[in-house]
Amino acid sequence: MTIHHKMDKPDHRNRLDSMAQGVLHTGMNRPEGPLKVTGTATYAHEDHQPGMLHGVLVRATIARGTLDGVDAAAVEKMPGVKAVMWGEKFPRNPAQGTANKAPVQGSSDIYYLGQPVALVVAETFEQARHGAQSLKLQVTETKAVTDPYADDIEVERPDGKQSSQGDLDAAMQDAAFIVDQTYTTPGHSSAPMEPHTAIAWWEGDQLHLRATSQMLKYNKNEIADAVGIPAKNVHMKSPYVGGGFGAKLGISSDAVTAALAARELGAPVSVAMSRQQVFEATMRRSETVQRFKLAADKNGNLIGIGHTARVSQLPDESFAEPVTQATPFLYRGENRETSLEVVRVNATCAGSVRAPGEAVGLTALEIAMDELAVAMGIDPVELRRRNIPLKDPSDGRDFSSHMLEEAMDDGAKTFGWADRKSGKTDGDWMIGYGMSSAVRVNMIGKSAARVTLNPDGTVLIETDMTDIGTGTYAILSQVAGEMLGVSQDKIETRLGDSDLPESAGSGGSWGASSAGSSVFLACEKLRQDIATKLGCDEGDLTLKDGVATAANQQTPLTDLIGDAPMVVEGEITPGETMKERRQATFGAFFCEVGVNRVTGEVRLRRMHGSFAAGRILNAKTARSQCLGGMTFGIGMALTEELIQDLRDGHIVNRDLGEYHIPVNADVPQLTVNFVHERDPYANPMQAKGIGELGICGAGACIINAIYDASGVRVRDLPATMDKILPGLPDL
Ligand code: MOS
Repeated sequence: MTIHHKMDKPDHRNRLDSMAQGVLHTGMNRPEGPLKVTGTATYAHEDHQPGMLHGVLVRATIARGTLDGVDAAAVEKMPGVKAVMWGEKFPRNPAQGTANKAPVQGSSDIYYLGQPVALVVAETFEQARHGAQSLKLQVTETKAVTDPYADDIEVERPDGKQSSQGDLDAAMQDAAFIVDQTYTTPGHSSAPMEPHTAIAWWEGDQLHLRATSQMLKYNKNEIADAVGIPAKNVHMKSPYVGGGFGAKLGISSDAVTAALAARELGAPVSVAMSRQQVFEATMRRSETVQRFKLAADKNGNLIGIGHTARVSQLPDESFAEPVTQATPFLYRGENRETSLEVVRVNATCAGSVRAPGEAVGLTALEIAMDELAVAMGIDPVELRRRNIPLKDPSDGRDFSSHMLEEAMDDGAKTFGWADRKSGKTDGDWMIGYGMSSAVRVNMIGKSAARVTLNPDGTVLIETDMTDIGTGTYAILSQVAGEMLGVSQDKIETRLGDSDLPESAGSGGSWGASSAGSSVFLACEKLRQDIATKLGCDEGDLTLKDGVATAANQQTPLTDLIGDAPMVVEGEITPGETMKERRQATFGAFFCEVGVNRVTGEVRLRRMHGSFAAGRILNAKTARSQCLGGMTFGIGMALTEELIQDLRDGHIVNRDLGEYHIPVNADVPQLTVNFVHERDPYANPMQAKGIGELGICGAGACIINAIYDASGVRVRDLPATMDKILPGLPDL
């Protein structure tokens, strides 16, 4: 039995508010937590197979050219070495998120330094690594394009990424206040804790793959296409994933080469990327150059917004960091222009990294808005309040729900924004305050899950959905527990197996809403079936702790199920509500920083975020997502920067020692509030995506506070000491 539901109409029923179990929204612990902290949750690289061989990838040492041959014979003679592989099926790039087809293949063309071009397989990892390090490559080097800022670089303006309404130039002329500034953000690496790894083995023409994957529905098609088999012959498992951040949306070289090698050698093959390979050969976020034009009338009402952004990408790849994504609808203004420009460079493939688009685009917009508030001499909260649109200003659509003002008010109150004093000092530290808005587009994807109510009253939830550290096991168990009135000790959730019903996967902040809705739909049908057995309306049925109550009669759930399990599959599909309404999550950040008047060092002292994302499914995991997002914001503002040497195109800081993500000492007390919201247009649960909202705009809050503290306006991120020191007043 499958329940299909297309989201064509808003769902105003608030079903989840009328259930009795009381487990949804609570900060319930993750059911798989004990497995993870005791080291017994099996991650991809730990699922060793009997007779397993080890493959180590060989990287290109030039940024552009051809691979004319490899000295395989010398390496094949080395102890334990089983094979040296390269050639036309060899993966060149990682697959983009939701690509659903093979990534670009072929190792004879070299497009970036660090591109995997060969694989050495041996009996032990050490033998394979020695072989890989010893393999001589014959290459012909040609001139690489490494500098995305070069004057003579060709600029593409892809269709569908340019928009214009009204007359922005005229608005800039007529405005009482304007901002016209250029902001730059560096490249970023997703840098998940767990490196990309895969173990592949074949049973006849059936491929088994343990992989580090966010989206099995797409990943199985990608790997099937890459190795030339039907998708039904692929069985993938990713029950636990140690962080994705976009880098595991599509498959990477580890999975493709493991599958090819295992087929050729007739044995299981493991390929694990080193940390350096993760930096070089998975996804990077493009650096951006963004010019913002803001035009406001004398009352601080925006009459024009212009946003032009340039990003870079490899040749043959269509993804372009969607920098202007939130600009069309966040603020008012009838004269608007957005433009996205792409330049082609020989650098690691650009793809989705932690809130692609808003993470960097909104950061620049929110710095520009702060500059406008300063120019006008008004409170930055007030400037934003005056410019909240009633409808999407780019196309006139209504919003599905809109809580920016509420989030700003809640955040300002919690933080004590009104009590801030400018010009405060603390020893050598100049203290300043900043704020910024948060916004992230909201979506669902087609997603299915099977829910089984067993005769003993236990519940099994099954879907190929992944948990990449976000809390999927917890929230799906909570949705079912709430709907069916079953305690958590009786619920098992199985995830990350491509044989299970296909979900939308983890990405784009849509995982919880999509997979959660499919579980909700299956459970709603199970409730109807139980009601039928009791002879009552489903709406009159109360399910709690394994007992069904209707018309004051109590019946144990197990008496109603019967001898056979009750099994329902639920499937949600996006529909008209996603087109008819502009859907987004909103929030606001507030922070206090200290800028050292002697060294220019910045210390974040405290930071608060208030967010609205529809129904919150688990208070603890949702809060953790936001804390993580704000922590990314700290990195983006202060330290994080993927540095490429433009002379030869190599990534300079390709490890976690030199690529500076925030560490504990960089992160002070962070606090998070959720604003009450139900979004009936989003999905039947009325929940929206929370995964990436906490990143979007967070960095700007800190940059704005640096200005408030020191008078130094940083427009080139991150705000390292060298950019602040020259602007500080003489001691
Ligand atoms: Mo996300 S960058 O869509 O995993």
